[in-house]
Amino acid sequence: MARSRLIVANWKLNPTTLAEAKRLALAAKAASAKAKKVQVVLCPPAVYLATLLTAPGKLLFGAQDTFTEFEGAFTGEISPLQLRDLGVKYVIVGHSERRKRGDTLEVIAAKTRAVLKTNLAPIICIGEDKRDGDGDYLEGLVRELEFILDKVPRQAAKRIVLAYEPRWAIGALATGADTPEQFLHHAIFLRKTLVNLFGKEIGMSLPILYGGSVNVKNADSFLTVGQADGLLIGRESLQIKNLVEIIKLAAKAV
Ligand code: 13P
Repeated sequence: MARSRLIVANWKLNPTTLAEAKRLALAAKAASAKAKKVQVVLCPPAVYLATLLTAPGKLLFGAQDTFTEFEGAFTGEISPLQLRDLGVKYVIVGHSERRKRGDTLEVIAAKTRAVLKTNLAPIICIGEDKRDGDGDYLEGLVRELEFILDKVPRQAAKRIVLAYEPRWAIGALATGADTPEQFLHHAIFLRKTLVNLFGKEIGMSLPILYGGSVNVKNADSFLTVGQADGLLIGRESLQIKNLVEIIKLAAKAV
């Protein structure tokens, strides 16, 4: 059966003007409208969400982060309730760049629970710093996932999206992307953990995305050879022509 694909654009701290954010979003919207069986999710800086959400079309929007609490005296934070109220559907949690800014596993688990409680879908990022020949890092990934998803009820678990993003493959200093063949193995391994946690039906149904140096040249093979349920794209999602091309590729790869 044809599966639908999720193409998630994580714009990080870009662009620096609302005008440019609108320009990028309009192009993504047009491409998304034409791409059957592809769901495009834009994750712009939070300050742009309210404006961009006024004319989303078939696009969905995600936040790059949220807070563990819903309201109160927490200067500078953004509540999952506020995101939901704007019409946001997804929230990235556990991104390596947030971990570098201090998000511990406890915080990531609490954010995941807050997102799920609000009926939003968390895009949970997981990935090793480096690989070892013995495959010990794989056990590390499983332990992390079990910790983050501990106490998540099955009903809520249906909204989880997992993004496998090896940290050495992320950003301008990356040493390259994973290979689609390796991704396929990692995704099977992570899916086993999801099945163990939530049972076969739910575990098999949750999307597992690939992220880390995705570009217009390698996107297709992650979706076909790697059988990724979607992609989490940083730098290349700001090269709007290339993002549009990736959306088209995803529609063909279904
Ligand atoms: P790059 O695609 O720029 O490597 O970033 C990946 C990422 O962090 C997406 O969340």
